[in-house]
Amino acid sequence: MRTVYVNGQFVPEGEAKVSVFDRGFLFADGVYEVTSVLGGKLIDFAGHAARLRRSLGELEMRMPVEEDELLDIHRELVRINEIDEGMVYLQVTRGAAADRDFAYPGEEVEPTLVLFTQSKPGLADSPAARAGIKVISIPDARWGRRDIKTVQLLYPSMGKMMAKAAGADDAWMVEDGAVTEGTSNNAYIVKDGTIVTRQLGTEILHGITRAAVLRFAREAQMKVEERAFTIEEAQAADEAFITSASTFVLPVVEIDGTAIGAGAPGPVAKRLREIYLEESRKAGI
Ligand code: PDD
Repeated sequence: MRTVYVNGQFVPEGEAKVSVFDRGFLFADGVYEVTSVLGGKLIDFAGHAARLRRSLGELEMRMPVEEDELLDIHRELVRINEIDEGMVYLQVTRGAAADRDFAYPGEEVEPTLVLFTQSKPGLADSPAARAGIKVISIPDARWGRRDIKTVQLLYPSMGKMMAKAAGADDAWMVEDGAVTEGTSNNAYIVKDGTIVTRQLGTEILHGITRAAVLRFAREAQMKVEERAFTIEEAQAADEAFITSASTFVLPVVEIDGTAIGAGAPGPVAKRLREIYLEESRKAGI
């Protein structure tokens, strides 16, 4: 049985408990992070911790523990659960107020901190990375502060189900004619050697993998444009791919039934995946 962390304690998953009054449960009043693990090491922990701090700040929630303690908890869970490849999921909510009330409770209410691991052997060497994935486009019906990593994930879940029903793997969301991002990842196209991905703003999550991949791309002298693009432009691109902590760089080979480029993973996505995995493994902690 897995060991999970809840509010200061490491407990068997069957014994972990959170209140029915927890605002994460009642109001989706919580934020989260997903940090990948490769070779038993955490990938880009500092980036995830920084984004967590920012998400909490935007929602006027306090950090439940200091960053070094957070790192210790992550490492301890990876060790206890013997994770070689997988993820650590972290969630902070505004905690359990005495009753259901829309207004935020006072400082006396302690935030809830929960972490658990997910073992995913073969995460780095995945069949999806070799074959590429198919995506469909759907309207972006989420709220307006997608830069805050909240646990309001119902629409992204619906998007995955729409993709599944259409025989695809994921969905890219479109707003005012332009792609924002994937249901749980950032979206990219490649045309004539230039990598194009949407600029940062409140419309998308500021991916930690995105930041690393764009840095590696620029270091490798690849051209990067941060701007919006349409589904039509993506369908006419040479390559497409997504990035996230759980997929790294993953080629997209079909959008709304149209094959991208040769309909197989392209050289830029493949190279970026290799560089990302190699550099991340080296820098893992
Ligand atoms: N999702 N955009 C959205 C909407 C996301 O949910 C995610 C991450 C990303 C990529 O961010 P990062 O590179 O920091 O993982 C972009 C995580 C993995 C999840 O919900 O499981």
